Amino acid sequence: MAKFTVVEHPLIKHKLTIIRDKNTSTKDFREVTNEIAMLMAYEITRDLPLEDVEIETPLTKTTQKQLTGKKLAIVPILRAGLGMVDGILNLVPSARVGHIGLYRDHDTLEAVEYFAKFPTDIHERKLFVVDPMLATGSSANAALDILTNKYNCKPENILFVSLVAAPEGVQAVQARYPEVDIFTAALDERLDENGYILPGLGDAGDRIFGTK
Ligand code: URA
Repeated sequence: MAKFTVVEHPLIKHKLTIIRDKNTSTKDFREVTNEIAMLMAYEITRDLPLEDVEIETPLTKTTQKQLTGKKLAIVPILRAGLGMVDGILNLVPSARVGHIGLYRDHDTLEAVEYFAKFPTDIHERKLFVVDPMLATGSSANAALDILTNKYNCKPENILFVSLVAAPEGVQAVQARYPEVDIFTAALDERLDENGYILPGLGDAGDRIFGTK
């Protein structure tokens, strides 16, 4: 089984409280969501491999470290995932960004793809699939299905990154994709009867974009 990590940090906890608060403005919600994503990026990049590189400082030659290995791509699940992209890009500015758009079919309740656009070498990259809310896990699993089945991405090269997760969503992704590492800033109590996370923060997309 891959890793499941709740990224613990006082700054993240404080900022999560801000975005959970229903009185937080759209502007602040958007800014703080990106700040949390940036802090999480520090943790999700912790295992990136390094190699030695010879450089010269103004004083001497020296051997130092630089990133090596697979290039990165961030894959937001539209639309709420967009709210985390800039924060992560602050720390890994060269990462490419692919997009997956999913909607829920009212009859079948299945997630249906309406948009997918990725860098051509997506299957060779390490992927950060981002969605602020890991609720039932159905969007997450649908996005992972698309990446692995249609674009030949390997589950072991994929990290799933959420801000708030429900136990039901974590279990659903782990059951289908045991090789995918999951990172979240908070593991909440449960889903309500409408599939919202409790205590949660409401509809992340609406709160990021100021819609209702
Ligand atoms: N999606 C959201 O935006 N919020 C939830 O609580 C669950 C799913």
